[in-house]
Amino acid sequence: MPGKIPENILEDILGRVDIAEIISGYIPLKRAGRNFKANCPFHHEKTASFMVSPDRQIYHCFGCGKGGNAFRFLMDYERLGFLEAVETLAKKSGVILPEVKPQDAKALSFSTQLFKINELASVFYAQNLNLPAATQAKDYFLKRGINPESIKTFKLGAATDKWDGLIGYLKVKAVPLSLIEKAGLILAKENGGYYDRFRSRLIFPIFDIKSRVLGFGARVLDNSLPKYINSPETPIYVKGKNLYGLNFAKDAIRDNDSVVIVEGYLDFLMPYQEGLQNIVASLGTALTTEQVRLLKRYTHNVVMVYDPDTAGELATLRSLDIFVEEGLNVKVVSLPQGFDPDLFVRKNGIAAFREKIAKASSLFDYKLNVLKLRHNINETEGKARLACEMLPTINKFEDAVLKSEYIRRLSEELKVQEAALWEEIKKLKAGNEKNYSKAISPKKEAEVNPTEKLLIKLMLEETGLVSYIKENLTPDDFQDERASRIVGLVFEFLEKGREFGPSMLMNHIDEEDVAKFICESAFLEVPSEDKEKVVVNCVQRIKKEKVKVHRERLHEQIKQAQHSGDEEQLNLLMHEFHDLIKK
Ligand code: GTP
Ligand code: MN
Repeated sequence: MPGKIPENILEDILGRVDIAEIISGYIPLKRAGRNFKANCPFHHEKTASFMVSPDRQIYHCFGCGKGGNAFRFLMDYERLGFLEAVETLAKKSGVILPEVKPQDAKALSFSTQLFKINELASVFYAQNLNLPAATQAKDYFLKRGINPESIKTFKLGAATDKWDGLIGYLKVKAVPLSLIEKAGLILAKENGGYYDRFRSRLIFPIFDIKSRVLGFGARVLDNSLPKYINSPETPIYVKGKNLYGLNFAKDAIRDNDSVVIVEGYLDFLMPYQEGLQNIVASLGTALTTEQVRLLKRYTHNVVMVYDPDTAGELATLRSLDIFVEEGLNVKVVSLPQGFDPDLFVRKNGIAAFREKIAKASSLFDYKLNVLKLRHNINETEGKARLACEMLPTINKFEDAVLKSEYIRRLSEELKVQEAALWEEIKKLKAGNEKNYSKAISPKKEAEVNPTEKLLIKLMLEETGLVSYIKENLTPDDFQDERASRIVGLVFEFLEKGREFGPSMLMNHIDEEDVAKFICESAFLEVPSEDKEKVVVNCVQRIKKEKVKVHRERLHEQIKQAQHSGDEEQLNLLMHEFHDLIKK
């Protein structure tokens, strides 16, 4: 990723923007000495551990470890690619980016091309709606209560029964067939040639948060199956990363500080059209953590509205825990039998729908009620089963007061001792923690060597001392692989006579964990002793550590050689060992 745009341009951009100003455009920052702090936008927290350093032009969260420079912030927060982040900041700072080489242009614009094709296709489908061949489709929308203004806003459209309608349209625009296929809009025939994927269907373009068309959903006009077909996954359309309607709803979600989540396209469209605009649709699949985090940028209050047929399913109930895990308040509305939001609004009006939402049950009440229908809590076994389903949810609440309140209420409902429930929840915790550490341990980074971290901090701040370090250590002397890479880079910059602040260095490092390492070192608190003395001390310690590690390794090898009786090898190793000791 770095390297496509000349480094001096990247440096130029970073030199002109102020990270504190950029981040404060997204989240409120509070002054804290030389730094700013905030509640981390990347994980749920109640006390601010997200720090922004204007001096170093980087940010770092002490809670979740996210950190980086201004580019990284935009990549993480706005979900941009590196080049997109660079483009955004270039625009902001008035830096003109050079024309990219054709080869790079191809690589970087593959997704741009897919967006372009989708855009063209959405225009095609929308235009179709006015053709005689699509009268049925148009009537269908109107019959479902979707008015012409909504059709325009949401760029609704139709695919006619032609097998090559889109192909013909895009041919005139000189779009290569292979690319249309990659966009998922046409399919290859067995004996050569292509045909349109969507035929005789209503078309719903699916937008991303920037209102670019990611793909399409397409509904039949009758009761045939499958009811919907969708664009396949493409590099730009990855399921579970997006929510239908969020681009239209985001301001209303922010203004209302709440969001209503429904399942289907029409369940979204009808309330939105009638004025309830803080709404998104999950499109019939279980919500993912990514989708929940997307919403979390706009609000922490969620109301799920389910059709009665999905509402009682255990899978549905479990998927609600994800909101609690992410620290959101989730409430649930279950509509009367036979209704979905679309039908409910058409039959009873938007006011009645709003009332339902205002009266939504808390997750606890909702889940308890569903489970009570499922288990007989007058029997011991039923009680145990219900508790077993309920406790993991309760356990996910971080708030201790809420948690104990729920335990109290559950104990009342089940007529069991609170203590027994606490006992069970404790077991759950122990189990969870085990799983958790197991799950993360392979990825867990080696304990960071504090000396190496400190020395890197000093290298980045006391640049005058770097040549001393370079004379005394090589990058390989650092035990931590990330430290070696950073040091190697710093030495390289020193040789070229270039500046190497933390923010600049990050442009040269793809790996997030190396960037994180830089952030962690940069934000390290150090007593303001004589910096030179500290550096000398660190260098000594790193040298000693290196010898120690070397000695341990030799020791191990010698043991092995003794064991296998390899005399020659043993001699060599003993020799090396004595040399080392002498030093
Ligand atoms: P209507 O029946 O027209 O009211 O549509 P709906 O959007 O209410 O459909 P429904 O409640 O049955 O399903 C909710 C959502 O699940 C839909 O909007 C689709 O996104 C998705 N879905 C439903 N049926 C299918 C299907 O057959 N295939 C796929 N891929 N998705 C479906
Ligand atoms: Mn429906």
